[in-house]
Amino acid sequence: MTGIISELLGSGSIIMNILAAGGAGYIGSHTCIALLEAGHSVIVADNLVNSTGRTLERISDITKKDFVFYKIDVTDRAAVDEVFSNNAIDGVIHFAGHKSVSESAEKPLEYYYNNTVSTMVLAKACVKYGTGRFVFSSSATVYGDNKVPFTETMELCPTTNPYGETKVISERILRDSVRSHRGLSVSLLRYFNPIGAHNSGLIGEQPLYVPNNLMPYIIEVANKKLDKLLIFGNDYPTPDGTGIRDYIHVMDLAEGHVAALEYLKEGVVVFNLGTGKGTSVLQLIKTFEETNDIKIPYEFVQRRTGDIAICYADVSKAEQELNWKAGRDLADMCRDAWRFGKNGQ
Ligand code: WQD
Repeated sequence: MTGIISELLGSGSIIMNILAAGGAGYIGSHTCIALLEAGHSVIVADNLVNSTGRTLERISDITKKDFVFYKIDVTDRAAVDEVFSNNAIDGVIHFAGHKSVSESAEKPLEYYYNNTVSTMVLAKACVKYGTGRFVFSSSATVYGDNKVPFTETMELCPTTNPYGETKVISERILRDSVRSHRGLSVSLLRYFNPIGAHNSGLIGEQPLYVPNNLMPYIIEVANKKLDKLLIFGNDYPTPDGTGIRDYIHVMDLAEGHVAALEYLKEGVVVFNLGTGKGTSVLQLIKTFEETNDIKIPYEFVQRRTGDIAICYADVSKAEQELNWKAGRDLADMCRDAWRFGKNGQ
């Protein structure tokens, strides 16, 4: 049975029931807001291992809308089956992955198991219940150390860590599933570097454990929980010697998911979600300092193993086909990240 597409919005867009697996996490929670604001209904499935129930309350506070929540692990087939049998689900967005590159090297089995089994369990449920739309949280990491800008048609390079491999493998599982299950449409969204927070300051990136990524560290320094930021390498072949990344505001990324869900057609489509602009570590620090009027002391240390010099997207495909474009700039990202981060949340 196909999920019920309940009604048409005035604009002609369809209202859908969307299962957000991992919807309480950083990208998931912001996407739930974008989905609810676009008029869709949301069902969150999350085991809260790296998120909290408070985030879910805040999604409701911000949107003034309710949604259904299941505290389940999406590697649990019986639990996922129950969610599908109790709800007419039109589409799934799978954010429920472990995401720390360094932790993935320490716990490869946990990463391979969680990130690929969750993909298979959700895809199997889609096939069983006739849910046609599947959006997958992939990562620019699948491009490895390719030549920039990264385009969707590039051959994927080996990644340097188990986390990256789980994304490559999950993409392959979904491609193969689509080949033999007509009616299943998949969108592989390759995220670049999401930072920032919802402009209410109520939700944002909240690493429950030691942070790995740059912005959470900048926030720790700004909050004086750390004396200084360690910059991993100043001898890269870039104008200032520090690594270059394509930072994207998490709300732009969230809105990209809504566009991708509404666009889906039979088969597999791949989109880069980035801004297309490269920013160095030093440029990001400078923008953060100027926007928020806070000094971020730093020290250069050795390169981090596995890091590449430059990573930014070719975003022309998403802009043309999804009619979506990241509109928020680096200052917006720094201001919104700090509005949330300064409360030490
Ligand atoms: C950005 C830049 C660092 C911390 C990873 C994953 C990717 C995606 C996002 C997961 C680099 C430098 C960082 C610090 C530093 N996935 N840096 N000091 O490595 O581009 O991407 O996270 O969610 O798949 O690979 O992001 O934020 O860790 O690093 O100098 O304390 O900041 O060397 O140049 P990365 P990042």
